[in-house]
Amino acid sequence: MAAEAKVKGGLEDVVATSSRICFLDGDRGVLAYCGHDIHDLARHATFEETCYLLWHGRLPNRAELGDLQSQLAAARPLPEAIIRLINMLPPEDGMDALRTLTSALGHYDPDAHDNSPAASYRKAVRLTGQIASLVATWGRMQQGGGPIAPDPVMGHAANFLYMLSGSRPDATSIRAMDIALTLHADHELNASTFAARVAAATLTDIHSAIVAGICTLKGPLHGGANAEVMKLLIEIGQDAPADRIDAVIKGKLARKEKISGFGHRVYNTEDPRATHLRQMSKALGQKAGNTKWFEMSERIEALVKAEKKLYPNVDFYSASTYYTMGIAIDLYTPIFAVSRISGWTAHVLEQLANNRLIRPRADYTGPTYPQTWIPVEQR
Ligand SMILES: CC(C)(COP(=O)(O)OP(=O)(O)OC[C@H]1O[C@@H](n2cnc3c(N)ncnc32)[C@H](O)[C@@H]1OP(=O)(O)O)[C@@H](O)C(=O)NCCC(=O)NCCS
Repeated sequence: MAAEAKVKGGLEDVVATSSRICFLDGDRGVLAYCGHDIHDLARHATFEETCYLLWHGRLPNRAELGDLQSQLAAARPLPEAIIRLINMLPPEDGMDALRTLTSALGHYDPDAHDNSPAASYRKAVRLTGQIASLVATWGRMQQGGGPIAPDPVMGHAANFLYMLSGSRPDATSIRAMDIALTLHADHELNASTFAARVAAATLTDIHSAIVAGICTLKGPLHGGANAEVMKLLIEIGQDAPADRIDAVIKGKLARKEKISGFGHRVYNTEDPRATHLRQMSKALGQKAGNTKWFEMSERIEALVKAEKKLYPNVDFYSASTYYTMGIAIDLYTPIFAVSRISGWTAHVLEQLANNRLIRPRADYTGPTYPQTWIPVEQR
C-alpha cells in the first residue's frame, strides 16, 4: 500500500459498509433500529418485535408477530445431543461454553447444508430461539439443576428466565429482561457484528459467522465488560463507605487502568441504552429492598465523569441490574449474546443479500523491500 497512507488505529471513524439496520449518532446520543428510536423500543417493544424489525426493516403486524413467536417456540427445545454436550463440558467460562455449543448446534440444524436466503433466514430464527435455551440450560446446569423444557406459551424473555430458574418469573423480571434484550439487540458495526459480517462475506454458513461474533463479543473491551463491572463492585463491597469507593476508582485511574463499563468508541454523550439500564437498576434494587449496588454505581459514575469525562456505556448498569435479578455473573456476557444474536443475524442476512468479500489492505511498516537472502548457516 502507498507509503503515505495514514491509518487510524482500530478503524476509528472508517465507514466499512452501507446498512439499513442501525442508525447511530454519537454526538447526539441517538440509537435507532430501522428508524425506531431506542427509547421508544425500550418503552414499548418486546424482544420478538425487535427481532422482526431488525430482520425485516419494519415492525410486524399481529399475524406476522404471531408467526415469529411460533417459529421461536418451535426452535427453543435443544437437541438431546446438545444437552449431553453441556454435561460433558468443564464448568468454565459461560462464553467458552456458548462458543462450543453454538458451533455444535450447526451439526444438528435441518438446514445445515442449505445456504439459500430462505434457509439462512430459518437458521437466523432458529439460532435466536436456541441460543436463549443454551444459555439458560447451561446456567441452570452449572447450579446443579436439570434442564427445563421451554413453555411454548411464554414469550422469549419469560422463557429464558423460566428455563434458567425453573420457576415462573414475575411480571417485573420479565419486563426487565425484555427491555435488556431489546437494548442489546443491535449496535451498528460493533466489533462482533463486524466479525460476523466479515465471516459471512466469505460465503461461509451462518453458524460459522455467528461463532465468529460470539468469540469477538467475549473480550473485556466488548461484551465481557458487564461481568468485569460486577466483579469490581463486589471487590469494593456493597457496604463499603464512600471514601473506599473513591479510593479504589481514583487509584485505578491514577494507575491508568480502565474502568469497565465506561467509554465508547462512538458516543461522546451518554449511551442512550445506559439511561434505561440505570432506571432498571434503581427500580429493581428498590423492589428487592437493596439499592446499595445502584448507589455505588451512581457514585462511580459521578467520579469517572468528573475525573475522566467518560460516560457509562450499556455494560455499566446492566451489571447491577442482572445481579439484583439474582443472575450469576458468568451469564452476563452470554445474555448479551442471547440478545445480540438478533443483530448479528440481521447483519449477516443483509451482507448475504448484497455480498462482496471483505478484504481491506494494511499499511506496510515492516523491513524495507527487498531484503537480501542470507543462508541459514550465515545468519
Ligand atoms: C470502549 C472502549 C474500548 C473504546 O475504546 P477506544 O475508542 O479505543 O478509546 P481508547 O481506549 O483509545 O481510550 C481513549 C482515552 O480514554 C481513556 N479511557 C477510555 N475508556 C476508559 C475507561 N473505561 N476507563 C478509564 N479510561 C478510559 C483511555 O485510557 C484513553 O486515555 P488516554 O488518551 O489518556 O490514553 C474503551 O472506552 C474501554 O476500554 N472501555 C472499558 C471497556 C468497556 O466498557 N467496554 C464495553 C464497551 S460498550
